[in-house]
Amino acid sequence: MNTVPTIFVIFGITGDLAQRKLLPALLSLYVKKVLPKKFFIVGFSRRSFTREEFRQLIRDEMNVKSGQYKGEEIKHFLDHIVYEQGYFDDVDSYERLFLTLKKIDEYWKQCSNKLFHLSVAPVFYEKILANLASSGMTIPCGGDEGWTRVLVEKPFGNDLATAQKLDALLGKLFNENQIFRIDHYLAKEAMQNILAFRFANSLFEPLWNNNFIEGVEIKLLESIGMEGRGGFYDDIGAIKDVGQNHLLQMLALVAMEHPKNLNPKMIRAGRADVFKHLMPVKDRNLSKFLTRGQYEGYLSESGVKAESKTETYFRLITYINNSRWKGVPFSLETGKALYKNKSEINIYFKNKINPKSTNVLTFRIQPNEIIQIRFWVKTPGFGVNIEPKTLSFKYSDWGIANPIPDAYERVILDAISGDQTLFASTDEVKYAWKFITPLIKIMSNTPLKIYKKGSKGV
Ligand code: BG6
Repeated sequence: MNTVPTIFVIFGITGDLAQRKLLPALLSLYVKKVLPKKFFIVGFSRRSFTREEFRQLIRDEMNVKSGQYKGEEIKHFLDHIVYEQGYFDDVDSYERLFLTLKKIDEYWKQCSNKLFHLSVAPVFYEKILANLASSGMTIPCGGDEGWTRVLVEKPFGNDLATAQKLDALLGKLFNENQIFRIDHYLAKEAMQNILAFRFANSLFEPLWNNNFIEGVEIKLLESIGMEGRGGFYDDIGAIKDVGQNHLLQMLALVAMEHPKNLNPKMIRAGRADVFKHLMPVKDRNLSKFLTRGQYEGYLSESGVKAESKTETYFRLITYINNSRWKGVPFSLETGKALYKNKSEINIYFKNKINPKSTNVLTFRIQPNEIIQIRFWVKTPGFGVNIEPKTLSFKYSDWGIANPIPDAYERVILDAISGDQTLFASTDEVKYAWKFITPLIKIMSNTPLKIYKKGSKGV
């Protein structure tokens, strides 16, 4: 356990992300006793509450299953949270926040580590970062102990230009090793296993190229619709919401080269290198390779514009311009309000003799995490028929002794320990946007097909 006192400042603590993901993850880590012993959460938000009202709100809103924790555990956890009412654009609010942090340091009689988490809509990033900087709060009070770090949620910017502007601003206030750009998909347990599986099993490496792989399918399918996020989603659509980040990161883990060593710098550089080699969309006629759709009923979701042409589904075939992957189609597919929840990667191996009998390697990221191989066997009897069977490893086989941590638990622990492996680097963000930015325009000119809720999309 990290012994340096740590303060986790959450901008937007009353918001959806903080309530649904961050606070439950912090509570879980607290109960597992893996947070620093001296630990405080300072929540910053606009609304004004008494101490008891705030504690009640957190208790009510947190996405905690009933019976998951003992009442005492939640009570003690709440004792580690203080609330600071303030406005993102009000300098005085930051002065008050600074004083609160100082008081906690004085109480501990130690200079503490400080993590600032921007759990707010991206339009507020600039304001918060600028005010944080002028308040002096981002200046570390110590060296290795007493650091300051910032956690930023995706989407990082809205296109290449705005992402670079945001990065320049972050770069003015922090060094790269203080900036943690969250793509929580990278922190999912089954995503982490892709590299472990690829690099620990020599069986696959000789086959991991265009000689043996016919195509790769990457899917992030969701059965949920807008869930109250219509206003935010309508401005960005599926391509920016999950295409620029989660889907590309899934692709990167399949396609990246084996780094010379597995340190964070090399792994991040490996992922960035994949994005750098994505075939630019302007070089291709995309009509055969891109479809997009919107689910029936999307227009009546709250926050969605009446005539909105925003896509809630897309499928894109893309290619990677390097010797390993030249000619191999990578299909990226995502959608909301579909027939099921499934995030999965399927790798199809070539069968030159019998093209229909392909072997398929599947990484199911969620739900029911699995790694599975489809192979072919002879059906018993006097005939010579073959049929597909599977070899599979299910995470549930590990049972409760090895529960899968939530991605945000991993994000928080890695940010505290300073390990940036599972966070996007400035290069990853840059190359991902270089690929996606021209696609946004092409996407908006692609016919929008309407699909039924609960269907397979278009
Ligand atoms: C978020 C997107 O980044 O990822 C959401 O903004 C999406 O629209 C979510 O639903 C999916 O993540 P998870 O962990 O719920 O599968």
